[in-house]
Amino acid sequence: MIVAIDGPSGAGKSTVAKAVARTLGFSCLDTGAMYRAIAWLALNEGVSLDDNEALGELAKTAEISFVHEAGDPLPRRVIIAGNDVTEAIRTSEIDRAVSPVSAAPAVREALVAQQQRIGRLGNYVVEGRDIGTVVFPEASVKVFLTASPEERAHRRVRQNVDRGVGSIDYDEVLADIIRRDEYDSNRATSPLKPAPDAHLLDSTGLYIEQIISEICELANQASE
Ligand code: DC
Repeated sequence: MIVAIDGPSGAGKSTVAKAVARTLGFSCLDTGAMYRAIAWLALNEGVSLDDNEALGELAKTAEISFVHEAGDPLPRRVIIAGNDVTEAIRTSEIDRAVSPVSAAPAVREALVAQQQRIGRLGNYVVEGRDIGTVVFPEASVKVFLTASPEERAHRRVRQNVDRGVGSIDYDEVLADIIRRDEYDSNRATSPLKPAPDAHLLDSTGLYIEQIISEICELANQASE
């Protein structure tokens, strides 16, 4: 079974996806981390961020893997082409570079194919922007999770403090969230939009636990 969780940056998708996966005993796939890993590799190898073909070639040939600790369904480390980039993909530099990389049609084509291959391996909670619309349009449960830009900026700052990487300047984070929303919603390839049959959940002012139990309930209903 696939549980698709889409929505804008900072809506709480990662926290929710991990908790839902733990509760249901599913694996979890963070597709944003895959776009971030390609952005990191492009910067590292000096590939121009507006060269669709070259970026697509990286996405097709570089192996991305998620490393699990024994017995844990949630991956701990992200590896691309032999480099552990778990922390490196969360910097402000990657926040900026990932928009043009994820808008490149050749990158999307390669990563969507890879995500579909992974998802076929079992029960997955998959988080991203186009999971319910493009990657798994047949997903059993589709959720579009959002929250106000201000709430999302507060959460992102807290997350960056906890992780020890990324900006902790609220105004800078808010400006970046608004810029990325604009970019992700208006790009030509797979713009961010809810699938027609997605459940729209707004987490502004709600405890994240309420969202988690609502999604688990949807998944339980879908499996009956
Ligand atoms: O969820 P995130 O912030 O880690 O995602 C990083 C970037 O990748 C973000 O700018 C949107 C893009 N993305 C995408 O276009 N499609 C996905 N399925 C996941 C992420």
